[in-house]
Amino acid sequence: MSPSAFPLAGRTALITGGSRGIGRAIAELFAESGAEVIICSRKQQDLDGVAEGIRAMGGKAHAIQAHVGKLDDIERLVGVLDERGLAVDVLVNNAGISPPNTGTFCDTTPALWDKIMEVNVRGPFFLTAALGRKMAQRGRGSIVNISTTSALMAQPEIGAYCVSKAALNTMTRCFARELGPQGVRVNAISCGVIQTAMGDHTMNDPQRYADMMKINPLKRVGYPEEVAAAALFLASDASSYSSGVILQVDGGVLS
Ligand SMILES: NC(=O)c1ccc[n+]([C@@H]2O[C@H](COP(=O)([O-])OP(=O)(O)OC[C@H]3O[C@@H](n4cnc5c(N)ncnc54)[C@H](OP(=O)(O)O)[C@@H]3O)[C@@H](O)[C@H]2O)c1
Repeated sequence: MSPSAFPLAGRTALITGGSRGIGRAIAELFAESGAEVIICSRKQQDLDGVAEGIRAMGGKAHAIQAHVGKLDDIERLVGVLDERGLAVDVLVNNAGISPPNTGTFCDTTPALWDKIMEVNVRGPFFLTAALGRKMAQRGRGSIVNISTTSALMAQPEIGAYCVSKAALNTMTRCFARELGPQGVRVNAISCGVIQTAMGDHTMNDPQRYADMMKINPLKRVGYPEEVAAAALFLASDASSYSSGVILQVDGGVLS
């Protein structure tokens, strides 16, 4: 483990969707920076592989299967954390889905709408409510929500996703106001296109990719490690006077 610019030694961090992509990069960087990390997603086997890799590098990691859109799973996850004596200092609400719409925004089916909202909005809300309350009782904590530029740029072909992330941004500010007086900071990262399984959706569509690059001053996609670096800053004491911030990590798309 190399020394980190933003140490997390002595902190326990839960990263949802930590089995691949941005969540995995965050979990690995946090562990490298001294945190004991807990990762969750729907597939135990994938989680185990990431946790084993972190342990092999000398870090501390726990892998707990949970579907963040299911309230029973959130309750069970919080129960397992209590049983293991893991008090979460840092929560990263990273798990998210962006299924392609099969028609226009008007065509969004109730089933697709509910599926997106349950993972991208309901999950982060109830997990933050459960763990944020515990952080407030201990008088400290940092919550980082992984959002997107699509929250501000209407894209009707993934309209329900845009709406869900706009809700996440507003949720960030509501929790920042409510939990701030108890020492809990709540921030978000607004990602541009990042090279992951989800990002492939844009990168594999030549027209969509060309449109994105037209408005991207850095003329490239981002990498999970670049989002992880921003998450580490927001998780650590280096950002101790920042709360309610939506930090752009998007190559300058919104400039
Ligand atoms: N990549 C981009 O271009 C981009 C841009 C802007 C914002 N973002 C945001 O960044 C976050 C991470 O995206 P990514 O690109 O890293 O996506 P990804 O590669 O598809 O990874 C998503 C992660 O979330 C987990 N997950 C999905 N549904 C879940 C559920 N119901 N419960 C628990 N875990 C779940 C996945 O594991 P399982 O499938 O095994 O559950 C996986 O670990 C998302 O919130 C996304 O909206 C991504």
